[in-house]
Formats: sequence, C-alpha cells, structure tokens
Amino acid sequence: MGIFHVMILFGLVPLLEVGIVGAGSPLVFNVLNFGAKGNGVADDTQIEGTVIAPNDPRKWRGIDPTLWLQFESVSKLNVSGSGEINGRGQNWWKQSCKISPKAAIKFADCSDLWVTNLRSVDSQQFHISILNSQRVTISNLKIVAPGLSPNTDGIHIQNSQHVRVEKSVIGTGDDCISIGTSVYDVHIEQIACGPGHGISIGSLGKYGTEATVEDVFVRFSNFYETTNGVRIKTWQGGKGFARGISFEHCNFTNVDNPIIIDQYYCDGVPGKCKNQKNTIRVSNVTYSNLQGTSRTPAAISLNCSQSVPCNLLQFDMVNLISSDHKINPQAYCINAHGNAKGFINPKISCLQ
Ligand SMILES: *[C@@H]1O[C@H](CO)[C@@H](O)[C@H](O)[C@H]1NC(C)=O
Ligand SMILES: *[C@@H]1O[C@H](CO)[C@@H](O)[C@H](O)[C@H]1NC(C)=O
Ligand SMILES: *[C@@H]1O[C@H](CO)[C@@H](O)[C@H](O)[C@H]1NC(C)=O
Ligand SMILES: *[C@@H]1O[C@H](CO)[C@@H](O)[C@H](O)[C@H]1NC(C)=O
Repeated sequence: MGIFHVMILFGLVPLLEVGIVGAGSPLVFNVLNFGAKGNGVADDTQIEGTVIAPNDPRKWRGIDPTLWLQFESVSKLNVSGSGEINGRGQNWWKQSCKISPKAAIKFADCSDLWVTNLRSVDSQQFHISILNSQRVTISNLKIVAPGLSPNTDGIHIQNSQHVRVEKSVIGTGDDCISIGTSVYDVHIEQIACGPGHGISIGSLGKYGTEATVEDVFVRFSNFYETTNGVRIKTWQGGKGFARGISFEHCNFTNVDNPIIIDQYYCDGVPGKCKNQKNTIRVSNVTYSNLQGTSRTPAAISLNCSQSVPCNLLQFDMVNLISSDHKINPQAYCINAHGNAKGFINPKISCLQ
C-alpha cells in the first residue's frame, strides 16, 4: 500500500473538509486543523495517509450511501500522489446497485482541477466522477477493477466542460471512460483501456431526458479485449444532440465491437424500449485511422434512430480484421448517413 498524497492549493474556498465516510468518527476532517494554510500559495501537502474504504457496506448505514470521498466547490485543486485509493468494492458488487456508492472519488462544482498520479482499485461503482466542473486535467492515473465487477466505470464526466483525460491505464468492469450530458470540449488521449466496455458517449436521453454533448476528441488510445471500443449510446425518447465527436488514431485488440453507435440502448432489456419520435440527434462524428481486431462479426455497427438518422458520419482509414480468422467482420448500418474515404475495411455500404 502506498502513500496517498493530496496537494491542496486553496483558491476561492476558505475551508476544505475532507470527509472520509465510514471511517468512524470523526467523519469529517478539517484540513486546516492538520496544518493546511489554505492561502492559495502554500503547498498544503502534509495531509498524507493510506486511503482505504471499510470492508463492510453496512458502515454506510444512516449516511449518504452515494459517496465515499468527495471534493466539492473547490477551485484550483491539485490532487496528486503515488499511493492507492482502495474502495474494497468486492462486497458492494454482490449487492443491489441501488445502495452502492456512486463514486469512490467525486469532484463536484470544481474548477481548475488537476488529478494526477493516483491509483484507484476496486471502487464500489464509478472510480472517479467529475460533475459540474470546468477546466479539469486528469493524467497518469491507474484505475483497476475486475472485468466482471458491475458498473465500475473508470472515469465518469457529466455537466462539465474543458476536460482533458490523458496518459492513463484503465481496466474495469464497465466503461473505461463514460461521458454524460452537458459536456463540451473534452480531449481524451493516450488511454490504455481494458478490460471493460470501452470509451462511451452516453448513455444519453434515458427516460426522455435532454442531453447535449459536443466537441469530444478521443485520440492515440488502445483498447485491449474490451466489449466495445468507441461507442455512442442513446435511449429512444431522448432530446438533444451528440455532435462534433471524433475518434482518431486508436488501436483495438480482440475487441467485441470496436465501433458502435447504438441509439436503441435499453440497459440489457432488448425489446422493452419502443422506438420513439424523439431521439438524440447524432451528427458530425469522425472515425479516422482506427485499426485492429474484432472478436465478433459486428466490427462496425451504426444503429441509428428511425425518426432522426445519424448524419455527417465521416470515416477515413479504418481497418478492422477478425481476431481469429474464423469470423468475417461486417459493417452494419441502420439509418446512418455520411462519407467514407481512404481504405475502409469492412466496407460500409450506407456511406458515400
Ligand atoms: C500538481 O501537483 C503535482 C505534484 O506535486 C505537480 O507535479 C504538478 O505540477 C501540480 N500541477 C499543478 C497544475 O500545479
Ligand atoms: C497503433 O498501432 C500502430 C501500428 O502498430 C502504431 O504505429 C501506433 O503507434 C499504435 N497507436 C497507439 C495509439 O498506440
Ligand atoms: C464537426 O465537428 C468538428 C469538431 O468539433 C468541428 O470543428 C466542425 O466544425 C464540425 N462540422 C460541422 C459541419 O458541424
Ligand atoms: C439495432 O437495434 C435494434 C433495436 O435494438 C436491434 O433489433 C438490431 O438488432 C440492432 N442492429 C444491429 C445491427 O445491431
């Protein structure tokens, strides 16, 4: 077990409390009582320790079960270290997800946030959530959980703008990185993803909600033995858009479905979600310089809504071959429009 090291450069917030839920009392530690200056200049790094969650979910009884570590309303925060944050999620994964904490580490209403050099293992659900935050850099993280642990997304980003996620290794039981609604200007680069469900925009538009996602760039990343590679998933009945998205210079190794747009996402209940008139509008999505191996015939699946087709899909240099030469990779196209140029394999019949 390493040392967890938090560097807190206080900006606008005069007081920061670190609440370690379930740690026994006191539940809240005021870092000012532990030598932090909080003057925006001093390096308040003396707050060290090993961060490990209680083994037993019953420790959360009577307190907010959606949280473990939370940083809220902080500007100019630098969380960095060489140690480990261990959510000991094994006992949570066995239970109904309704009572699981949503995130091991949640950053909410933060701005100018840096999260670097951390290692997060076996989170109860999402490892790291970035909510309602602006100007965030996440870099050099290692996030691990078993491939079969439920909903252990690596990094979840929602209601946040100007976010950079880079140089990180993420292997979990769900999406390596997932992007929710109201997200604008996100750069994801040099990620090694796997095992897990790949990098996902969505799911968006659940239960008729409105969602907007724009200017998301995923580049120079590798996917190893993931179920999906780069995915956009939306529910029928949603409102809003996902547009200006690009996936470039990525490699896939033994990935079930390397490229997928699924506008019929239904959380594992096929047929339960009816086609609807409202739907998230997916447009201007670029796939360029993507290559590797697909474990199923559905190497490319563009499954767009009947009421509002996907448009301005642009493919340029995409080559996906079979993992084992027994299957024949295909491109499936439903209500999808756009252009293809350069070498494209398998051929995408619906594009010009
Ligand atoms: C954050 O802290 C790390 C470790 O001390 C340091 O290397 C890095 O430069 C800091 N980043 C910023 C933006 O201050
Ligand atoms: C993908 O594979 C190619 C060929 O092996 C390599 O040149 C390229 O650097 C790889 N891309 C990444 C992001 O690792
Ligand atoms: C498509 O998205 C890119 C990247 O966000 C943007 O620069 C470009 O202007 C968009 N094109 C159209 C036609 O909207
Ligand atoms: C597209 O989605 C529909 C509805 O969920 C499903 O029936 C169909 O099999 C999907 N097609 C492909 C090629 O994934």
